[in-house]
Amino acid sequence: MRLEGKVAVITGGGNGLGRATALRFAAEGAQVVVADIIDELGEETAQMVNDEGGSASFVHCDAVSVNDNHAMAAHAVATFGGLDILVTAAGVSHPGYKSGDQDASVKWWAKRMDYFESPANELLDLDLDDFRQVMAINLDGTLLAAQACGAHMVEAGQGSIVTIASIAAKHPDAGPIPYVCSKSAVWMLTKKLSRLLATSGVRVNAIGPGYIDTHMTKMIDLIPEERLTQFFANIPMGRKGVPDEIANTALFLASDEASYFTGEILHPDGGYFTE
Ligand SMILES: NC(=O)c1ccc[n+]([C@@H]2O[C@H](COP(=O)([O-])OP(=O)(O)OC[C@H]3O[C@@H](n4cnc5c(N)ncnc54)[C@H](O)[C@@H]3O)[C@@H](O)[C@H]2O)c1
Repeated sequence: MRLEGKVAVITGGGNGLGRATALRFAAEGAQVVVADIIDELGEETAQMVNDEGGSASFVHCDAVSVNDNHAMAAHAVATFGGLDILVTAAGVSHPGYKSGDQDASVKWWAKRMDYFESPANELLDLDLDDFRQVMAINLDGTLLAAQACGAHMVEAGQGSIVTIASIAAKHPDAGPIPYVCSKSAVWMLTKKLSRLLATSGVRVNAIGPGYIDTHMTKMIDLIPEERLTQFFANIPMGRKGVPDEIANTALFLASDEASYFTGEILHPDGGYFTE
């Protein structure tokens, strides 16, 4: 019970890495606020936690809304009496991304397969509104959640914030232009916040996952076979990761076991960076 007595807010808790983290944290004794823009998914996660004997409450939150983020933090305090941990797992890989909408993602990625042959077109085709949409959800969303939840942590003099960046924070080939830019900025934001909050007793760290098997990466199956072989050759362990492997990393960073970690990024990525 490594999170006994702690209250954790998890944005994007409705699916994928956020859901796995909610379940893992609850199993370790945390009371969990599941926040998401898709109510059915978020409510389902909260139900799964409660069915397993944990304690969870869902709150609707669009990551880009200032009001929603403040309401999310207030919901944690009103429901569970405090707010000790924030994990920012809300995110998108491309404009119009909707978690669970497999057809939309497949269509979006299928159109972009020709960038393997004509990479310059990725720049030439880029629409500024699309760029801003992804930056807003991934970067502004992380900032707003940290601001809203961080206010309670600073007041309490303790807390742990775990952001979800990506290997794309450091590797330009790991996603489209808006995605890699947003993740790189999330990593810098994490480092900056770690400096600002250190003397307030709040630690801020990032996770930079490799390719993890969630809805977001299902489109990897669209990649032509010869490129797929090359793709997995870049992962020494030769496989995608699973959401529990990220949840375990979040658990470590959120818990007191990581008491001397701040401004750090951990890469559960099968060795992607060790080549
Ligand atoms: N899956 C991977 O391989 C991988 C690798 C590196 C980083 N990440 C990052 O991890 C995070 C979670 O991704 P995932 O793979 O679990 O995908 P996912 O689609 O399974 O989960 C994303 C969750 O975020 C929610 N969300 C999306 N937009 C939102 C918004 N505006 N407000 C609130 N919630 C919103 C979705 O509804 C969904 O529940 C993302 O930031 C993603 O970039 C994923």
